[in-house]
Amino acid sequence: MLQDQQGREFHYLRLSITDVCNFKCNYCLPNGYEKPKAQAETCALQLSEIQSIVQAFAQLGTKKVRITGGEPSIRKDLPDIISLCKNTPGIESVAVTTNGYNLKQRVSDWVDAGLDRLNVSIDSFDPKMFAAITGHDRLDEILNGISYAQTLGLKSIKINTVLMRQFNYNDLQAYLDWLKNKPVTLRLIELMQTGDNFEFFKDNHVSGLPIKKHLLQTGWTRVLRSQTAGPAQEFQHSEFKGRIGLIMPYDNDFCSSCNRLRISSHGNLHLCLFGEHGIPLRQWCEPENIETLVDKIRCYVTQKEASHLLHDGFTGSTKHLSMLGG
Ligand code: 5AD
Ligand code: SF4
Repeated sequence: MLQDQQGREFHYLRLSITDVCNFKCNYCLPNGYEKPKAQAETCALQLSEIQSIVQAFAQLGTKKVRITGGEPSIRKDLPDIISLCKNTPGIESVAVTTNGYNLKQRVSDWVDAGLDRLNVSIDSFDPKMFAAITGHDRLDEILNGISYAQTLGLKSIKINTVLMRQFNYNDLQAYLDWLKNKPVTLRLIELMQTGDNFEFFKDNHVSGLPIKKHLLQTGWTRVLRSQTAGPAQEFQHSEFKGRIGLIMPYDNDFCSSCNRLRISSHGNLHLCLFGEHGIPLRQWCEPENIETLVDKIRCYVTQKEASHLLHDGFTGSTKHLSMLGG
């Protein structure tokens, strides 16, 4: 069992398989993906290395793996990665977070490979606003992909929406209308400050608390979370098929329920999204070194800090979340 000094247990791994993304979300990669100079010669984790990492975490009690990016579907071997996660003893649930690009064409291969859960980022339900935020006029296509995914028997489909004062903060009614008849959870995520987005953050960060207050006043009630659930506070309503989630990383108690660890696409262990640096694990990713890998992970996890320091404007070494998949 993986446990840190605060007694938090880690059953959930977020595994980034590429830092490349084809979208240009204004809060993340406003100028599109650029290869970091220091990384010129190294390639992302290979399938065999991913296998070792997932096996090691599974031995340590990890039950759920979320495959992230950048945009994970950029990798042609995504179905193989899903299937190796799913076939690792101990892993009960495999999830993917995607920007939804070509979802309709791709998602059945993912489900065939063993995908359980799908998260799609949609920052606006207005096609023009969606294009302004992501640089891609593809909202309808992505919504069609989601409708199609709903026919494939996935355990859960969630939508992620980053709240931005100047772009989508006043659209709550549009989200609620959309959720009325769709058995989908829409999570509203407070914009987080990263190394690259300070000005944007200053202009656009808004708290989710007024939305929580509004939901509670209009008949929505809190749903309890499971051991591997994310940090969202989820709400349901008898007249809505869908649910609303709120992710508020600036809320005081946010870090106390942290249950996840992250691996970057180059095989670094990140104890926190906003930590100072990642800890390289790649040198132990050969199949014969699994026991060392297990020991190293167990030992490093005890160094996890109690909380991020975002309130002091300290964002660690994370320049944008495409580096680590959010
Ligand atoms: N603040 C909040 N959420 C972010 N994401 C990416 N960058 C940020 C940020 N600065 C979200 C994406 C996606 C998830 C992986 O992380 O929108 O839904
Ligand atoms: Fe947008 Fe995610 Fe790509 Fe960043 S990684 S540009 S948030 S789709």
